[in-house]
Amino acid sequence: MIKFNKKIIQAPLAGYSCAPFRKIAWQWGQPDFCYTEMLSAKNIYLKVPIKKRYFFRDPVEGPLCVQLAGNEAEILAFAAEKIIEWGADLIDLNCGCPVPKIRKKKYGSKLLADSKHLYKLIRAIKTVVKIPVLIKIRVDGLSRDQFNCEVAKAIEDAEADAVTVHGRHWTEGYEIPVSYQDIAEIKQTISIPVIGNGDVSDTFSAKKMFLQTGCDALMIARASVGQPWIFEQIHQELQGRTFTKPTLVEIGDIFLFHIKELTMLEGESSSLLQARKLAKYYARGQVDNDFLSQVVTIGSYQELQEIVKRFFII
Ligand SMILES: Cc1cc2nc3c(=O)[nH]c(=O)nc-3n(C[C@H](O)[C@H](O)[C@H](O)COP(=O)(O)O)c2cc1C
Repeated sequence: MIKFNKKIIQAPLAGYSCAPFRKIAWQWGQPDFCYTEMLSAKNIYLKVPIKKRYFFRDPVEGPLCVQLAGNEAEILAFAAEKIIEWGADLIDLNCGCPVPKIRKKKYGSKLLADSKHLYKLIRAIKTVVKIPVLIKIRVDGLSRDQFNCEVAKAIEDAEADAVTVHGRHWTEGYEIPVSYQDIAEIKQTISIPVIGNGDVSDTFSAKKMFLQTGCDALMIARASVGQPWIFEQIHQELQGRTFTKPTLVEIGDIFLFHIKELTMLEGESSSLLQARKLAKYYARGQVDNDFLSQVVTIGSYQELQEIVKRFFII
């Protein structure tokens, strides 16, 4: 049984989710739990060497949900047992990924097309682990596929501990607004906790997700990049309390800390590439565009430090 505290979770984000990213979320926002990005159960089963980034858990992190992608019961059960050794507090089965190469392997959102098979996969995982098992799905959306209730019932019958619902069909991109109605329909169909996901970026949209869907908790993906305090901010503001955001100097320090931790995990060249990608999120709406053009030229952590100190000032 999952117990929510803040009722806000950090979503899996391939290319972003790793120990430094989660550590910062925990230090500044304390979501109920954070995710790894999607990991192939088959690669774990076949003992394909996995980069440290994908499985390393920092002792300073909060609760960790490890997300698996797979389609075979035996392989998922093996991987589920293995990731407990890595320190997983919760397990999630990805049933939402729309990427063609993932669907081609019959993983991700493809699992929504066969609820009987999905039931078997969840049972296989549930049989071997005692930690909570979550399922992350997408919805009918504008497709009229009519699978919401059938899939939700299969997940509940298989005794999954919660379901996260990203309120878009797998064919729908971010330009299509999230369907609160589909999430609400699932919430009304089952009695296990439903976590609402999609387009939550501030307290207004968080309130809307809770009110329009009746969800038990919500999950934030994109808006948490570069704003690790967002979980605490929404939590405080939903209770009518004032939240003071970190100062620009503090945000610059968080950015530098993020990159420093990535350097320790993966080495300097990889972390500098990620610094270029992350810079626009930390800078959003508050730092001059010159900052971004200078970040792409950096050749060392020290250079990054100098640029950040120049732009992130009060
Ligand atoms: C760059 C990126 C990577 C993602 N990686 C994953 C992933 O590994 N597993 C997953 O279930 N969802 C993944 N998602 C989907 C998000 O977890 C989330 O469901 C979606 O972005 C909607 O939430 P948001 O509106 O808060 O961003 C990813 C999304 C983005 C933008």
